[in-house]
Amino acid sequence: LSNGELITWNGKTDEVFSTISSTDEYKPTQLGTVPHMDKDTALEVLESACNAYAKGQGVWPTMKVADRISCMENFVEQMKTKREVVVKYLMWEIGKSLPDSRKEFDRTVEYILDTIEDYKQLDRDSAKFHKKDGVYAHIRRGPLGVVLCLGPYNYPLNETFALLIPALIMGNTVVFKPAKHGVLLLSPLLEAFQKSFPKGVVNVIYGRGREVAAPIMQTGRIDVLALIGNSKSAIALQDQHPHKNRLRLVLGLEAKNPGIILPDADLDLAIEECISGTLSFNGQRCTALKILYVHEDVQEEFNKRFAKRVDELKYGNPWKEGVMLTPLPEPNKPDYIQELIDDAKKYGAKVINERGGARSENYIFPAVLFPVTEEMGIYKEEQFGPVIPIKPFNSIEKLLDEIADSNYGQQVSLFGTGIEKIAPLIDTLVNLVCRVNLNSSCQRGPDVFPFTGRKDSAVGTLSVHDALRSFSIRTFVASKDK
Ligand code: G3H
Repeated sequence: LSNGELITWNGKTDEVFSTISSTDEYKPTQLGTVPHMDKDTALEVLESACNAYAKGQGVWPTMKVADRISCMENFVEQMKTKREVVVKYLMWEIGKSLPDSRKEFDRTVEYILDTIEDYKQLDRDSAKFHKKDGVYAHIRRGPLGVVLCLGPYNYPLNETFALLIPALIMGNTVVFKPAKHGVLLLSPLLEAFQKSFPKGVVNVIYGRGREVAAPIMQTGRIDVLALIGNSKSAIALQDQHPHKNRLRLVLGLEAKNPGIILPDADLDLAIEECISGTLSFNGQRCTALKILYVHEDVQEEFNKRFAKRVDELKYGNPWKEGVMLTPLPEPNKPDYIQELIDDAKKYGAKVINERGGARSENYIFPAVLFPVTEEMGIYKEEQFGPVIPIKPFNSIEKLLDEIADSNYGQQVSLFGTGIEKIAPLIDTLVNLVCRVNLNSSCQRGPDVFPFTGRKDSAVGTLSVHDALRSFSIRTFVASKDK
């Protein structure tokens, strides 16, 4: 989609295979083809976004708030009619279970509606005058310019839109690149974009980052880099920009969220929360629990019961009832997980669940590794897949130091009883991460709450409310009279 037109592509394409098969045996099925844009076409798409922004003088950045809202409302109405087809693609392309696929779609619609409401409030606030020392200020929020937005494969709809929608509503124009897995599910929505927004406001590029996104950054015409994905890609793209100091960053990156199980934790609750926390969508969530710290006093019982619970989980195609473990969209992921398991074993860890590491073509059954130590790859890396490291601890002070020394700082789950007793611990933990979940697994939602992280985990904040601010700048008119 460029300059309001759907481009027909005659160049090089990649075939997109489904993650799953309609039979229980895995046979890849071709779902479609995805064009690899070349550099010149990508730059033409950029030109379309720059023209629509027109150095802040275009139709979109100067449009009245009410009109911009009606474009967005129009879009969401059309989007709602595509629910069934998008949900189907979420299952086939990335292997997300049927309930989770429906949830992703509905959550995205809700995100857009909440954004519209928050934007209306922002507009009401900007109508107020502020007075100081005889000066009246009419403070509002204005757009930043042209946004390059890159979405992740694990939430190809919701997280891509968590960047795109606030960027658009604040008056920016956007070039967005969907992730390779999850690209097809956006096609049913392209027409809705085309019909709802002025030409050139929403533009889409496909292809490899270094071939399409990097040349766009090199032009220096991007004002905001908005990306949810890994730090390496974010840094590489940022480095391409000739005036890095002018670039606003809105980044949702990696995390290694710990689950801490204290000696007095309710183990039934802790085990269930750690199951969903580590393994929902096969652990392919930045908010997944990626390491469990279990106190030595309860370690034996926790390990035994947790390992048994993992082995009871059902694997299968995403539409099957009661299935939690589903095929992995990244073909190399099972090998990568296997390497992490082998490396941990080399340093003395054991796989403590019977089915752990069992392989099929596009899946590896979750392995619970114990005891995990600092020299292991699984201790340091964000596995983003089905493998669960457990590390024993006996000193909370040492554990806090360990969390403080991590390169990440998104969330923590703390399992224990007696809020008064653990209050000081909670107060310390919120200085190390950005969200402490009490007796529950880590998660991003509800989307109206701040979603961010310290250190290498994020730049900027991505909740409905905060994202409107992340994609805008405060401007004002000052005068002596009201
Ligand atoms: O990949 C990171 C996602 O933002 C996680 O979102 O907690 O709603 O699954 P979630």
